[in-house]
Order: sequence, then C-alpha cells, then structure tokens
Amino acid sequence: MDTTSKEILFSREVIQKRVGELAAQISKDYAGRELILIGVLKGAFIFMADLIREISIPCRVDFARLASYGAGSESSGKVVMTKDIETSIKDKDILIVEDILDTGLTMQYFVDWLRERNPKSLKVCVFLDKRKRRKVTLEADYVGFAMEDGFVVGYGLDFNERYRFSPDIYVIKQ
Ligand code: PRP
Repeated sequence: MDTTSKEILFSREVIQKRVGELAAQISKDYAGRELILIGVLKGAFIFMADLIREISIPCRVDFARLASYGAGSESSGKVVMTKDIETSIKDKDILIVEDILDTGLTMQYFVDWLRERNPKSLKVCVFLDKRKRRKVTLEADYVGFAMEDGFVVGYGLDFNERYRFSPDIYVIKQ
C-alpha cells in the first residue's frame, strides 16, 4: 500500500517565474560568450530544458549521468558516473545544471572531474539548494530556491523513480 503523502512546495507558476529570472541573469553574465550547459542526469533534465529555452545567448548542451542515492531517500555518499560528457570543454565557458544540491558530494565529484579538463570557466546552477545538509564547502553560483531539509519530488526529482514527471515540486511525507 502506498502511504506516501505530499505537500506542494513550489508550484509550476513559481518555478517558471524563477527559471526566467535565472535565465535572464545567466544571459546577462555570459553576454557575448558561447556557453556550454552540462546537465546532470537524470534529475536535471526538466530544469535544463526550461532554462535553456529562456536563455537568450547561444548555448551548447551536453549531459553526464551521476547518481548517489540508489533506492530510498538517503544519499549513499558514493557517487557513480555512468555516462560522461561527449564535448571537449577545454578553454570553454561551462555551466553545470543540476536539480538539487544536497550534501554536495555529487557536485563536488563532478566539479573536480570537469576541472581536470581545463575549462576557461566553470560555474554551477542548481534549482534547489539544501544548504543545511552540505558535507563539502562547495556553493552554487546560481540558485533557484534555498530550502530547508525535507525530501522533495517533482520537476525531475524522484523518489524511487516516481514523481519526476510532476510539473510542481512537492515535499513528501511518509
Ligand atoms: C540527486 C540529484 C543530485 C544529487 C544531489 O541525484 O539529482 O545529482 O542527488 O545530492 P548530493 O548533493 O547529496 O550529492 P540522484 O543520485 O538521486 O540521481 P538522479 O539525478 O538520477 O535522480
């Protein structure tokens, strides 16, 4: 029996407005440059799609697949890359796009991985930032919303692979 209940945290209207603001800021900051957005699958696929369509400068896109959660709501702490990027990022402006920054272990792993390839610049854009649970010193350069603790789903985020499709973001309670 599914005993999961959920409470709305960010509606699709609120999300859309904030994505527009982030895109405007990014377009301004990178004006005159060619940006490569790198999405971290799976969670970032919806945010990435929304963000890139609001950015007004030319962008290229790539994806990596990193996972740390496995089944359940707690990070295993061990980050695994199952798909690398396919673009050469040497001397390029790179913006990592991620749905959520939690312990930061996934992002730290990926930032270190990309830095070894000598990009011209490397910044991080996350839609949700759970700062309280951070285990590394890393901070995102662009943040949609900072949030307290709580397990969130929707807008790409899952619980056991469910709820990714939801246009709104919910906190789940079990
Ligand atoms: C989630 C999320 C981030 C990571 C954040 O991915 O998409 O990549 O966890 O957690 P952290 O800051 O504690 O490392 P997950 O491992 O659940 O894979 P998914 O993107 O395929 O859902």
